[in-house]
Amino acid sequence: MQNLLLALALSAAAEGYVAGSAGWDAAYAKAQIALQKLNQTEKVGLATGVTWEGGPCVGNTYAPESIDYPSLCLQDGPLGIRFANPVTAFPAGINAGATWDRDLLYARGAAMGRESKGLGIHVQLGPASGPLGKNPDGGRNWEGFSVDPYLSGVGMEETIQGMQDSGVQACAKHWLGNEQEHHRETMSSNVGDRATHELYLWPFMNAVKANVASVMCSYNKFNQTWACESDAILNKLLKDELGFKGYVVSDWNAQHTGVNSALAGLDMTMPGSDFNTPRGNIFWDSNLVQAVSNGSVPQSRLDDMVTRILASWYLLGQDQGYPEVTFSSWDGGKATVDVTADHGSLVRTVARDSIVLLKNEDDILPLQEPQILAIIGSDAAVNPDGPNACTDRGCNNGTLAMGWGSGTAEYPYLIDPLSAIKSQAESDGTQIIQSTTDSATAGAEAAAAADTAVVFITSDAGEGYITVEGNAGDRNNLDPWHNGNEVVKAVAAKSDNVIVVVHSVGPIILETILAQPSVKAIVWAGLPGQESGNALVDVLYGSTSPSGKLPYTIAKQFADYGASWTAALDDNFAEDLLVDYRHFDQNGISPRYEFGFGLSYTSFEYSRLAINVAATAGPSNGPVVPGGAEQLFESVGTISVLVQNTGEVPGAEVAQLYIGLPDSAPSTPPKQLRGFDKLLLEPEQSGMATFELTRRDLSYWDVQEQKWIIPAGKFTVYVGSSSRDIRQHGEFSIASS
Ligand code: NOJ
Repeated sequence: MQNLLLALALSAAAEGYVAGSAGWDAAYAKAQIALQKLNQTEKVGLATGVTWEGGPCVGNTYAPESIDYPSLCLQDGPLGIRFANPVTAFPAGINAGATWDRDLLYARGAAMGRESKGLGIHVQLGPASGPLGKNPDGGRNWEGFSVDPYLSGVGMEETIQGMQDSGVQACAKHWLGNEQEHHRETMSSNVGDRATHELYLWPFMNAVKANVASVMCSYNKFNQTWACESDAILNKLLKDELGFKGYVVSDWNAQHTGVNSALAGLDMTMPGSDFNTPRGNIFWDSNLVQAVSNGSVPQSRLDDMVTRILASWYLLGQDQGYPEVTFSSWDGGKATVDVTADHGSLVRTVARDSIVLLKNEDDILPLQEPQILAIIGSDAAVNPDGPNACTDRGCNNGTLAMGWGSGTAEYPYLIDPLSAIKSQAESDGTQIIQSTTDSATAGAEAAAAADTAVVFITSDAGEGYITVEGNAGDRNNLDPWHNGNEVVKAVAAKSDNVIVVVHSVGPIILETILAQPSVKAIVWAGLPGQESGNALVDVLYGSTSPSGKLPYTIAKQFADYGASWTAALDDNFAEDLLVDYRHFDQNGISPRYEFGFGLSYTSFEYSRLAINVAATAGPSNGPVVPGGAEQLFESVGTISVLVQNTGEVPGAEVAQLYIGLPDSAPSTPPKQLRGFDKLLLEPEQSGMATFELTRRDLSYWDVQEQKWIIPAGKFTVYVGSSSRDIRQHGEFSIASS
């Protein structure tokens, strides 16, 4: 019988990547056979990096001789491939999140995965949902999808499915509580169990559910223990509770001990040493061989590491003709193949559909063949030294289309707003006056000579190993950089028609700009990637109606968030569950632009809310499947609403579902995102937005019971166009069991 099961499993695996537990079973079966052939040194080699710059990729393992298995190539990152060219520079995660479009999230992941596979990369180090973004000034928030765990979770799941369907192993990072850059390698994130589950772990449930091959443990300590040697978060949370079957890889140099990390559940160490070259301090490699032989680490633990690593490789079908690595990170990254295909058009679509229109007075947008247009700000044009002038995009010169750090890729080209607008202007007969410095005086002069002025402003952030204009990764404030407020003020004093375009890693405070009456429009374009200008023109000129929605709140003042990075070595996560809109809602603070907000060139009406939900109150149990207890993912029904395009032009609307839990649940945020559906509608056309709900969506984490619980009582249903523009209310009840 067992042989029959093994044969079935093996034949399933021979077909390539098989989703779900069946895929893992088959992959494990193959891995266990391969494991038998390896000697101890080879086993340890599969789990140990060859040290920094020891191979072509940012992470490489030792290749064994006894089985046909390569030196694994692990390469950044979440928006495209780092240290290689040509590759596609995709829109950042935060823009992908702002589309609220599952198909685009998947397509972006799949395209990135194809590029990775084409270059011979086995493991692409993304996507990210840590940081989640609880600190609005956190340096790496833009690498992830949203500060809301539900939206971030969908981003993780779709991206991972896309990447892995293309054949590359995805790596969900950073696990866990890595919310800031300052002191990231020394500080402790001290997080309550409930917030851990309901906020920070939630998107990783989706990642594990999508069968993510690997998870990267983070630099910080979590509740005083290093994330990469915490039994509580690696063995217990990730592997036992979420049923993660792949392997845990350390962030680069985030391992602090050999034995403890092995016992806690770390499966692979990167880069295998500290950053000293050729070989720095090494915790595993021959030291792990010794630790096993003297009994400090059980043989079964080493075998488990290797089985997990091999199984992930088999799961993705990487044993079948996977390409060789075709570039080296350390010599300019020139690849011997071109993997970029037609991905530029996908970049343009994602960037276009991520643009959030924040303000549009007097229908100043879309532009209709303006006579004289002033284009103002250094962000309008590409850096005169080229878009890749600064290593890992570590400067904010010229138009901003990604943040900085390891989560960046080299631009193959960068279409800036100025050149894209110029080519549109040519066909419209529009005269362009440009002022591509950040001089307020020059900007005002240009504006005075035009009938409409477009001012470009930025705010940048990134990883803490680079400091840009005094910002050590995290942002020093939420104001526009380069004198942006003053430039806008000067322009607004000279022009009646001002449009402000924002390229930014996250929220900025817009009050000064909004106080200028002639600022008629604000367009949030985020970090759009290589097709920045083209995507912007699509929206500015109305060939496409804007359809992005804010993946975070824009406050009236920084202090309103109640959170920011700390200079202390302990962050006690005092926000608890009240992060972003949960905090604004709970404390009655009016945001400037709320979570989920975004205007369109058309209008939408909501009607016919239908609630069809039935569930049993109490805990979700059952065997652990990838993602958590099986019952968590059982359907409890659907909620739907009819959305009609009541305007004059086609447009897409993101209908959003928020749920308020009954009073029987211990203090919970007033409402939480639990569904969304994006519909593209012609004028007068209607479509049904449908929200599928699972038990998890109605649950809170009960700290005493250590389970997800559906509370009994009355649930409130809010469906609308943003977290505050609620168009339909309803309720349903769940009886106590
Ligand atoms: C450190 C970063 O935190 C991580 O995201 C990245 O994948 C590694 N460096 C490798 O570059």
